[in-house]
Amino acid sequence: MHSLDIMSSNSLNDLILEHIIDMGGMIRFEDFMKLALYTPGLGYYSSNLRKFGKYGDFVTAPELGQAFSSCIAKQCQQLFNSLPQKNILEIGAGSGQLAADLIKTLGSDLENYYILEVSADLQQRQKNIAPSVQHLHSLPQNFNGIILANEVLDAMPIAKFLHNSNGLQEYYVTSEFKFTTAAPSQQLVDYFVKTELEQHLTDEYSSEVNLWIPGWINSLYSCLNSGAILLFDYGFPRHEYYHEQRNTGTLMCHQQHKSHTDPLYMPGQQDITAHVDFTAVAEAGSNCGLDIAGYTSLASFLLNCGLVYDFHSTPAKTAELNLLTSPAEMGELFKAIALSKNIRESLMGFENFDRTHTL
Ligand SMILES: C[S@@+](CC[C@H](N)C(=O)[O-])C[C@H]1O[C@@H](n2cnc3c(N)ncnc32)[C@H](O)[C@@H]1O
Repeated sequence: MHSLDIMSSNSLNDLILEHIIDMGGMIRFEDFMKLALYTPGLGYYSSNLRKFGKYGDFVTAPELGQAFSSCIAKQCQQLFNSLPQKNILEIGAGSGQLAADLIKTLGSDLENYYILEVSADLQQRQKNIAPSVQHLHSLPQNFNGIILANEVLDAMPIAKFLHNSNGLQEYYVTSEFKFTTAAPSQQLVDYFVKTELEQHLTDEYSSEVNLWIPGWINSLYSCLNSGAILLFDYGFPRHEYYHEQRNTGTLMCHQQHKSHTDPLYMPGQQDITAHVDFTAVAEAGSNCGLDIAGYTSLASFLLNCGLVYDFHSTPAKTAELNLLTSPAEMGELFKAIALSKNIRESLMGFENFDRTHTL
């Protein structure tokens, strides 16, 4: 288990406080989350804390073993047959484990493995584990290939809102590092109008919105000449996301494999994450001209890609497959969505149990 870095957390506190004072005494939670996760050198993802795996704060699918990456490799191989170039661009590659495994499995079937990663510390870790990856500083142009992002959408800063008899309010963070609500920002109001979100919400409803999704998807669309964007994350379609029983939202914090719901605790020393509204992802894709090539649960995606449950395998392997496929673990809550451009082939990962109609 990594130890906490109190000095770094205090430095980040000071920096955030300075920003709050500059902004007149409070900042939107989205800005707080961005600073807490991505301030160079001090933010959770930018610092040198060990985040992933058994000795970090949380475990992601590529960290569990080879099953996830071997299924993605099969999906890539199928798509490579009909693409002019066999390239992968991974966004937000974390420890680099998925990159290392895909490069090994795909071998000469792969031309280039690019990574776009915001954290300098993680770039270094990725290079150590997968030396042949090529880091990019911005999205490429005319990219032919497959864009992958596992648990990147859920690491984007979100706007937190409260909807009650006073209408829509947004959460802000004060200089005492406490939450307060005030008039919503124009971006949040515009999003509510565009998506007609209010119709989903009951009174005294608090949740979050990822306002970055449309711009981010649009930038992926613009860089892609032909290929598919495969996104994996925790989340649901909009009607489930904003279900009346989920009236306190989905925001969670992870520190040393313990979870809690206080994102203002020790900035920079814990992960802050929120589930993904996959309807928002699909809408953003359709709005810029991408095809929705499929949407399904992780378990279905893996089974469609030929995951075999071997009853004679080791206890570790059995545990990995259980975590990935059990409806009580990642199998159901974790989803895969594919957006494509200029390809005709249907994707094997979404052949059965496609749930695009639920978005
Ligand atoms: C929750 S981690 C997931 C890491 C890895 N994909 C995995 O599955 O283990 C989120 C990753 O996305 C990166 N990230 C977040 N937003 C990003 C963005 N807009 N562009 C590139 N990387 C981003 C973070 O630095 C981190 O590497």
